[in-house]
Amino acid sequence: MQDLIKLLHLAGAIVWLGGMTFMLVALRPAAHALLQPPQRLPLIAAVVARFFVAVWLSVAALLFSGLAMLLAAGMKGAPLGWHLMLGIGLLMFLVFGHLHFGPWRRMKLAVAAADWPEGGRRMGQVTLLVKLNFVLGWVAVAAVVLVH
Ligand code: HEM
Repeated sequence: MQDLIKLLHLAGAIVWLGGMTFMLVALRPAAHALLQPPQRLPLIAAVVARFFVAVWLSVAALLFSGLAMLLAAGMKGAPLGWHLMLGIGLLMFLVFGHLHFGPWRRMKLAVAAADWPEGGRRMGQVTLLVKLNFVLGWVAVAAVVLVH
């Protein structure tokens, strides 16, 4: 059972971090190089809408499995790296919730209204917060693996 819980945890991390890598390293630069805002922003909005469903599922999987592993071991006996992961993980969930209901919601409204300058500005905010979560995610993984 513990192994299955860890597998669920790893699946959540791989989907979330892998998806952010794809967005930041591949999709966004290519879309910027090849497309103008009226084509680029609806495409990115459609891709992000689908990816964010996967992120919500990852957040649920990570929270459930992470707490299950932490509580099974006991908070007191857990290594420092595990506590760091809890703290950084909760911060990542907050950042994602904020970007989802703030800039991302406004970006969708702007795209629906064909307001490209506003859409581009909101997409910039979404990207900044995704970059933050990308860094936080890798710091959390490094902490759990390297800090004992
Ligand atoms: C509330 C949030 C979280 C909690 C409570 C939590 C808890 C834990 C715990 C206790 C472990 C150690 C498992 C072990 O070594 O037996 C662990 C490992 C791990 N966590 Fe988290 N975690 C959280 C969020 C995250 C996030 C946001 C990510 C990445 C996006 C992540 C990725 C990983 C990875 C890659 C491992 C390594 C698994 C291994 O050593 O085999 N976790 N986590």
